[in-house]
Amino acid sequence: MAWPLPQRPNREAAPEPAAAPGTAAQKLDLATRLRRNRKADWARRLVRETTLTAADLIWPVFLCEGENARQPIASMPGVERLSIDLSVRAAVEAAGLGIPALALFPFTDPNLRNEHASEALNPENLVCCACRAIKREVPNLGLITDVALDPYTSHGHDGILRGERIVNDETVFVLVEQALNQARAGADIIAPSDMMDGRVGAIRAGLDAENFEEVQILSYAAKYASAFYGPFRDAVGTNATLIGDKRTYQMDPANSNEALREVAQDIAEGADIVMVKPGLPYLDILFRVKERFGMPTFAYQVSGEYAMIMAAAESGYIDGDKAMLESLLSLKRAGADAILTYFAPRAAKRLKEMS
Ligand code: PBG
Repeated sequence: MAWPLPQRPNREAAPEPAAAPGTAAQKLDLATRLRRNRKADWARRLVRETTLTAADLIWPVFLCEGENARQPIASMPGVERLSIDLSVRAAVEAAGLGIPALALFPFTDPNLRNEHASEALNPENLVCCACRAIKREVPNLGLITDVALDPYTSHGHDGILRGERIVNDETVFVLVEQALNQARAGADIIAPSDMMDGRVGAIRAGLDAENFEEVQILSYAAKYASAFYGPFRDAVGTNATLIGDKRTYQMDPANSNEALREVAQDIAEGADIVMVKPGLPYLDILFRVKERFGMPTFAYQVSGEYAMIMAAAESGYIDGDKAMLESLLSLKRAGADAILTYFAPRAAKRLKEMS
């Protein structure tokens, strides 16, 4: 049995609408089109609000004993501890790349670490010897030295431990001596990272009393008790020594208003430059500090931030160079005048290639 075929209605094809979705004829009546300024590279360059240059970068360098010695740091791919002779070569490289300054951090021989951090006051310690060696070869490169006792104490804390407490005032007296030791060796900028109360004022007075009134103070003003310092503690050997944590002196990551009080205090005590640390997780703090005080303000892109970008890049999850430059630019956009970063030489080279 044959069924009749269904009758197709004999309809006209629908007429093309005057403006079909996605055709050139459809227009919005927009006075402002923000995309206009992004239409080409030359146009984007003309309206760029923030720029990153080698002059924004400070290179933190880890020091170790020996000659022609390099010690890789597993948690910081591409970063090595350098013996003093090689730190001089790094200084020459930095100057050639247009990086204005190095920040020096020592890996102190565990046998030289003790309760009093006495090696911090030794004029022949790694940091002082490196300052003198670098100043001889590259006198126009800025040298920043860290003031805190953690690379020198047997317990890995930034201050003197009495019972269970890091004692503030006693520590400050030692920090002043440490700062003077560094200034005598030629440090240009003294950078207290210890978070003791009153240390900036005490260090300023100590420096001035020895006619070091030209030596600047870069205060780690808002420094948080952060998990992102882990790889740094490998580099200076304090993961092995640290007992407990640093939450009685470094700031609570939950706090923001308190950061402004810390910064205000350090400015009142004579800080020339203030710093926020870590970097990317604390962009809000950086922004508030710069807005409120208008001070020269630095950011520290810390070891854990470096390690995260490197690990993701090495896994092929992100483009390492692009993530590096974007993170540094973000810190500048938020208000940083300069950035301490382990990417400094790599970023400076990349910026040179791009220019
Ligand atoms: C030491 C100091 C630390 C860093 C700079 N100075 C570590 C800490 O406070 O435990 C961290 C830098 C980094 O993670 O890159 N006071």
